[in-house]
Amino acid sequence: MSTPEHETRIYPPPEAIARQAHVSGMDAYRQLCDEAERDYQGYWARLAREFVTWRQPFTQVLDESQAPFFKWFEDGTLNVSYNCLDLNVERGLGDKTAIVFETDDGQVSRHTYRQLLERTCQLANALREAGVKKGDRVVIYMPMSVEGVLAMQACARIGATHSVVFGGFSAQSLRDRIEDAGAVAVITADEQLRGGKQLPLKAIVDEALSLGGCDSVRQVLVYRRTGGNVNFDPARDRWLHDAMAAQPTQCEPEWVGAEHPLFLLYTSGSTGKPKGVQHASGGYLLHAALTTKWTFDLRPDDIFWCTADIGWVTGHTYITYGPLANGATQVVFEGVPTYPDAGRFWRMIQDHKVTIFYTAPTAIRSLIKAAEVNPAADPRNYDLTSLRVLGSVGEPINPAAWEWYHQNVGGGRCPIVDTFWQTETGGHMITPLPGATPLVPGSCSLPFPGIMAAVVDETGKEVPWGQGGILVVKKPWPSMIRTIYGDPERFKKSYYPADFQGKYYLAGDGAVRDAKTGYFTITGRIDDVLNVSGHRMGTMEIESALVSHTELVAEAAVVGRPDDTTGEAVCAFVVLKRPRPEGEEAKRIAKELREWVGKEIGPIAKPKDIRFGDNLPKTRSGKIMRRLLRAIAKGEAITQDTSTLENPAILEQLSQTN
Ligand code: WTA
Repeated sequence: MSTPEHETRIYPPPEAIARQAHVSGMDAYRQLCDEAERDYQGYWARLAREFVTWRQPFTQVLDESQAPFFKWFEDGTLNVSYNCLDLNVERGLGDKTAIVFETDDGQVSRHTYRQLLERTCQLANALREAGVKKGDRVVIYMPMSVEGVLAMQACARIGATHSVVFGGFSAQSLRDRIEDAGAVAVITADEQLRGGKQLPLKAIVDEALSLGGCDSVRQVLVYRRTGGNVNFDPARDRWLHDAMAAQPTQCEPEWVGAEHPLFLLYTSGSTGKPKGVQHASGGYLLHAALTTKWTFDLRPDDIFWCTADIGWVTGHTYITYGPLANGATQVVFEGVPTYPDAGRFWRMIQDHKVTIFYTAPTAIRSLIKAAEVNPAADPRNYDLTSLRVLGSVGEPINPAAWEWYHQNVGGGRCPIVDTFWQTETGGHMITPLPGATPLVPGSCSLPFPGIMAAVVDETGKEVPWGQGGILVVKKPWPSMIRTIYGDPERFKKSYYPADFQGKYYLAGDGAVRDAKTGYFTITGRIDDVLNVSGHRMGTMEIESALVSHTELVAEAAVVGRPDDTTGEAVCAFVVLKRPRPEGEEAKRIAKELREWVGKEIGPIAKPKDIRFGDNLPKTRSGKIMRRLLRAIAKGEAITQDTSTLENPAILEQLSQTN
């Protein structure tokens, strides 16, 4: 990656923030890193006592005896929902607003910690009444809503393991996840409302359950969001409000061991089906609470807003768990940034006096474009002076978008924390801290104190600063993935491969450290995982979806190509079982295949480009040459060596856009 002039600009932490920050200045940052370096377990134990309230205190910190299946604080017991709700009420925050909820059509409601606690208890009791027990899995397929947060908290309260499925996934994807998790219950809504459009969540659940393999599901709880029509199976379905109304507002938490699985979250890898990333309770809660406080420099009077969906890990850690564990007030938003117009985010920051704003580069890039043509979308036309700290997550933020965000949203005053992390890491791994770290646009800067990140070569040897390599984490950390649900071997192979003697956690990203400062820049995935609008997808999954259209498709290969707005776009090369289509026919079939992928996986996976060929570029041994496809997708001239190619003429054909 080249480094244009303005990327090297450095923004020191603003005085006003540095003075009173939780981590104030680089000396404080280094002290924490030194503490972790000197006494790794002691450091995490100290924080685990400070940030988590334990029912039964732990006596062991890290158990490495079954590495890479690490255990943290194993003999400690706790309840995550107790930590997020009861504790705040006990500390006198019962009447504090926990959630300011704004609906798609702009209605605002406020929910105090006491209300959240009482309703969580009611929902937890309803789940218990439905026979859901500690260790059972519950799938949550919900719109962005207070009820979505309650559903997660209620599972945590009774020790059930939740598995939230993003509302943009299809019935087929939902079915796969229900089956893999062996879920006993599903919590959903009649419909989701986003950008003025309804999405029939309950109908999708019905379809998923009818596809087979979901016999484990005994109950479906339905939150009435829109009042739209739904089919009801009285033996299986129950309205959430009915189920809750009958229940007391107290519910004794299930005290669980620190390693008890809090949740599964399915995410894409380079091979096979999405994998159920399993997180533990104690270590996860610690990092969620800790990073929310330090990375955003969270204070009691902040109004925090993370725009992610609870269907992704960002919504888990920085909506459902981190802010509540800190007793914060946060905004939860049902809708989308562009409805009713692209000024929605800025208007909401102004209306709710948001002080900390955390969003994705894709959103920023699309709003930059909107602001160019529509004054109502221009952040400079809103009063955003309440903002103190800005955050970015999910994909690399390009320096131009960073500068725009800093200048036009943050008024040049607000540090931007560019947080690098993953579903598997549970919370921030490499990120600036607003009162400490001088910022360089496009760099996620330095590891969070206690995270031992490094850049290595294929043999696991650290490469010199300035040289690109593979991003690894050298020591286990409390909020790390524990296993892939039902597939411990795949966990080992994916994250602790033999290449590094099984010692280092492999993130799956490439990185380079600045030659002078040691700052990290993430250079992108080194496997077949795509990142489209911050949504993670495997090329293999999309290929499988395409070839499952057995009537039309003979063969398919999927690659990513850079996209100005979405970061990456999905580009599919398809060989049909009929002659290569052209013109209108090609357009029609491409449309059909796009819809097909939408149905198989979900609308987020629909290829932007579909190109048809008589064949795919292959080596003489029959291996598809993806690097050539990537070059073609980018529109680059093929300068690479094609001498091993079986059928060079195919490149020309695939280069033609349909
Ligand atoms: C990418 C999202 C650059 C990276 C929290 C990672 C980033 C994948 C950043 C994980 C960032 C996330 N800069 N790249 N600040 N944050 N990524 O599991 O490729 O949905 O491996 O977790 O997103 O995506 P996931």
